[in-house]
Amino acid sequence: MSACRESVLGYSSTTPSKGNFVLSDDLLQLAPLSDSAAVRQLIAAGVPAAEARADVVALAAHARRVGRPGEFERLIACRAERVPLSHLLGSTTFRGITLRVGPGVFSPQPETSSMVQWAVDRLRTQPAPLVVDLCTGSGTVALALANELSSATVHAVERDSQAFAWAQRNAEERARAGDTPVLLHLGDAGSCLPDLDGQLDMVISNPPYVALHEAHVPDVEVVKHDPGIALWAGADGLDVVRDVERTAARLLKPGGLVVVEHSDRQGATAPAVFTATGAWEDVQDHVDHEGLDRFVTARRIA
Ligand SMILES: C[S@@+](CC[C@H](N)C(=O)[O-])C[C@H]1O[C@@H](n2cnc3c(N)ncnc32)[C@H](O)[C@@H]1O
Repeated sequence: MSACRESVLGYSSTTPSKGNFVLSDDLLQLAPLSDSAAVRQLIAAGVPAAEARADVVALAAHARRVGRPGEFERLIACRAERVPLSHLLGSTTFRGITLRVGPGVFSPQPETSSMVQWAVDRLRTQPAPLVVDLCTGSGTVALALANELSSATVHAVERDSQAFAWAQRNAEERARAGDTPVLLHLGDAGSCLPDLDGQLDMVISNPPYVALHEAHVPDVEVVKHDPGIALWAGADGLDVVRDVERTAARLLKPGGLVVVEHSDRQGATAPAVFTATGAWEDVQDHVDHEGLDRFVTARRIA
């Protein structure tokens, strides 16, 4: 672990990060920094220009709160090493909730919100839906659902113990904030929750889905700093999607819904995982907020 990453571990902040970045009045006072040498340093390191400006403002605000001499320069140096902004700030926002993130857990991405919106629209019409989020990471999807659907019972499953620890922390914070508590399980998406077979209304998942030969496709900071278990999923990137399909077929009640995120290169292959097994009807693929193929949905045959 580099000195840069080690020092990130101790951080605690509620500052929003990129993706859902909001310029508060406080941050706007720091706007002149957006033309600074720090921005040029980040752009030279490969951070996209629009992001670099917002990152410098956010890191300047964070350094000011920390109040340690040299903190701003240290944070910029870390960001130039492509440590994700959310790790440097210690948190990110997803659909309005703050999630603690750092080394060992996947940084929640804005495109996942499209899948969650689809799920919220369907679950809202049910009086007390029973849901599971497979591959929960920091708790992203499960905690957003619990925040927006107070009558839902939401389970969440994560295989990696480091990510699970972040999910536990976030779940405790959201429960303290008044959300319905999420029920967390350390386990595998392929074999979890046998006691709930045939009982669930929805299975939702943003699993790992990058094919092993696609190492060049994700952003360099994703490959360098997100855990491998969060990214790679076999020769075609669909190994865990196939596990999720099998588990969803087992857990859902007849007529129950499954929704699974995939890459923008899997708009045909991910739905094919569902049409191939004969367990599903109404298999559809959907685009995200940028119009890119992003998630598949299907209904368990009654
Ligand atoms: C792409 S990340 C997404 C995390 C979270 N759903 C989100 O949207 O921020 C995938 C997550 O799946 C977890 N994972 C990978 N394989 C798994 C498996 N077989 N069972 C359960 N979780 C798994 C990884 O540890 C990682 O946290």
